[in-house]
Amino acid sequence: SPVPIGPLDTVLLAAPRSFCAGVERAVGIVEHALAQRGRPVYVRKQIVHNAHVVADLEARGTVFVDELAEVPAGATVVFSAHGVSPAVRSEAARRGLDVIDATCPLVTKVHTEARRFAARGDTVLLVGHAGHEEVEGTLGEAPERTILVQDVADARTVEVPDPERVCYLTQTTLAVDETEEILAVLRERFPALRGPGSDDICYATTNRQEALSSVAEDADLVLVVGSANSSNSVRLVELARRGGTPAHLIDDVSGIRPEWLDGVRVVGLTAGASAPPWLVDEVIAALAPAEVVQRETATETIHFTLPLAVRPS
Ligand code: F3S
Repeated sequence: SPVPIGPLDTVLLAAPRSFCAGVERAVGIVEHALAQRGRPVYVRKQIVHNAHVVADLEARGTVFVDELAEVPAGATVVFSAHGVSPAVRSEAARRGLDVIDATCPLVTKVHTEARRFAARGDTVLLVGHAGHEEVEGTLGEAPERTILVQDVADARTVEVPDPERVCYLTQTTLAVDETEEILAVLRERFPALRGPGSDDICYATTNRQEALSSVAEDADLVLVVGSANSSNSVRLVELARRGGTPAHLIDDVSGIRPEWLDGVRVVGLTAGASAPPWLVDEVIAALAPAEVVQRETATETIHFTLPLAVRPS
């Protein structure tokens, strides 16, 4: 059990925080698959980018693989919440694998847009981070027509074959403020730039950033519970720091360094969309503040149904 680190005056708890609807659904899919089909259930890549979620599912009979080649013929394989490229789908079909797709519906929406934009002859400027699984999946929809734009510098220099036929899409877990800057540069350079109907940065990412901004401005220190490969969690740390509040990413309570708390009276606390809520409870218990004040900047009611393949009858 965690060693008390406190006492602190206040933990300012950001809300919304922690699991989003897409993560709830993805984790639920693996749990149902395990219950209905027995172990092992294979999952391509981490189901969501969280070390605790992955370790817990591994202990219950999930086998995480990097490539489909590691999945035995005929076995059940779950595609992670971040989505896959069409090439991965065809490979699974070719190998006769029993696929359950845990791609977040909000990521699927971006794939659909990528196909539609590419089909009408546009060059797609995809704002996102190189190497992230979501970006690899989206890029795979129209690789010959899609160009990755990672930052303002890329936006200033990117060249397209026809500036009249260009549109943008974004990764779902980017920083809202940075993305606006990048899009402003693109719009200025390509006045004909078209976009998706509504922003691709998802509701959960947007809400967690707004909630964190609200607590960070009144906190001496911000702690974000989440794993280092979780894009939306890392964005929360960066956002707090851009606002001038020291901030750290921790996988769990054991990541807190006592010296961070020197002279700190108010800790702003949140968790990325892939971090389980109980990890936050443990941090609060360890900080042992005199009071916990939750600041709620939005209410989330969104819920995604399970795919038919694992829906309980
Ligand atoms: Fe989906 Fe957004 Fe969560 S894209 S998985 S709802 S962070």
